[in-house]
Amino acid sequence: MYVCVVGSLNMDLVVKVPRLPEVGETLAGGTFATFPGGKGANQAVGAARLGAHVALVGRVGADAFGDQHLAALRREGIDLTHVRADPGAATGVASITVDAAGKNMIVVAPGANMRLRPEDIDAAAGAITSARVLLLQLEVPLDTVLRAARIGRECGALVCLDPAPAAPLPDSLYRLVDVINPNETEARILTGLPVTTIPETERAAEALLQKGVGAAVVKLGERGSFYLFAGGRAHVPAIPVKALDTTAAGDAFAAALGIALGEGKALPAAVRFATHTAALKVTRMGAQSLPTRAEVEEAMAR
Ligand code: ATP
Ligand code: RIB
Repeated sequence: MYVCVVGSLNMDLVVKVPRLPEVGETLAGGTFATFPGGKGANQAVGAARLGAHVALVGRVGADAFGDQHLAALRREGIDLTHVRADPGAATGVASITVDAAGKNMIVVAPGANMRLRPEDIDAAAGAITSARVLLLQLEVPLDTVLRAARIGRECGALVCLDPAPAAPLPDSLYRLVDVINPNETEARILTGLPVTTIPETERAAEALLQKGVGAAVVKLGERGSFYLFAGGRAHVPAIPVKALDTTAAGDAFAAALGIALGEGKALPAAVRFATHTAALKVTRMGAQSLPTRAEVEEAMAR
């Protein structure tokens, strides 16, 4: 199956510490590593490891982080025809602090990602029109996302939007989206509703469907997720695991959800597949320590 991802590539600069610092506090004793990341690249790697042919549309800087990142993506077999190295900006960087329980704090300098323009999407339209599934996030400019979603909808691809980081969205975008998968914070910002309890999450999901998406899957971290579509609704608990690094749990989930739906699974089964995929991710350090198809199927069979 062909999947097109339009999105960001970052180099993640990760410090693992026993606990997250408070504002103004300096915390010593961490360990440091760099990992390729960025929501677009993470979802591309996630989809490739689950067996899809993946094309990524994005931008890096013409610099060492960009070269390093592209080499890693090439090793995954991802088509990088539409990832341009831009001499006018640095590769995106994410500064990530991860605590002993795997929880994180992330700040991003998007750099070249914000120079991905709608014209770049037009130039890459062939990668979208040949895809069964289009995976989108919000770490590239909104008008770029909108253009990609429009082409995806016109050609009949399944358009999946991970609305992260949270930003208010135009009504026209919701109507182009088949599946939206925000986390609690993003769902709250998109709907203006509280998203703390399961009944509140359900109401927020209803509001997202009223805005025009086909289905909503709200990710709830270690509490799992809640899905709503015309065929039903349910809270799906997470798989209990020892979390080491939850960075990109949402990306693992988004990629698996898109793949499963693209393969024809119904939403409840697709959410189950995504839940197992994300649970495996959180047991490993680094955004792109994403599980293979065989690993997910083995976990589901256990
Ligand atoms: P990120 O922005 O870090 O990529 P997110 O905020 O978009 O993540 P989360 O809700 O944190 O998304 O996680 C996505 C999914 O991963 C959850 O719906 C859940 O199934 C799974 N998950 C997250 N944290 C854990 C955990 N500690 N244990 C097991 N599964 C988890
Ligand atoms: O979703 C996780 C990603 O968010 C990290 O890889 C980091 O680059 C930020 O973009």
